[in-house]
Amino acid sequence: MDRPEPEKPDVLPSTALAYLDRNYWDKRFAQEEHYEWFKDYSHFRHIVLQHIKPQSSVLELGCGNSQLCEELYRDGITELTCIDLSPIAVEKMKQRLINKGYKEQIG
Ligand SMILES: C[S@@+](CC[C@H](N)C(=O)[O-])C[C@H]1O[C@@H](n2cnc3c(N)ncnc32)[C@H](O)[C@@H]1O
Repeated sequence: MDRPEPEKPDVLPSTALAYLDRNYWDKRFAQEEHYEWFKDYSHFRHIVLQHIKPQSSVLELGCGNSQLCEELYRDGITELTCIDLSPIAVEKMKQRLINKGYKEQIG
């Protein structure tokens, strides 16, 4: 028998203008653990790796709670900088990476 999907927090804004508001993102990231706005890395890995090499420096602008940087790191791309407007997103990403054993890699 299929297990029921875990309930997802209701994080949709009432208007698209909320996407411009830092408070919206803070509130959302306080509730939501993980969400990929595009498909996950496995869908476009073959394209990314044609263009980004292990010696590349990558800036992920607006990283949110995506797992893209971990996936890139696992593929040998280690010069990664993730930034976000939301300090909650940044702090939660830091904690998530520390919990996964990436403490040494976090600057
Ligand atoms: C649509 S989400 C995408 C999150 C992630 N990149 C993904 O694909 O799952 C947009 C992200 O950009 C961040 N953001 C919005 N305006 C920003 C700004 N001016 N500077 C940095 N980050 C910003 C938001 O906090 C949010 O995490």
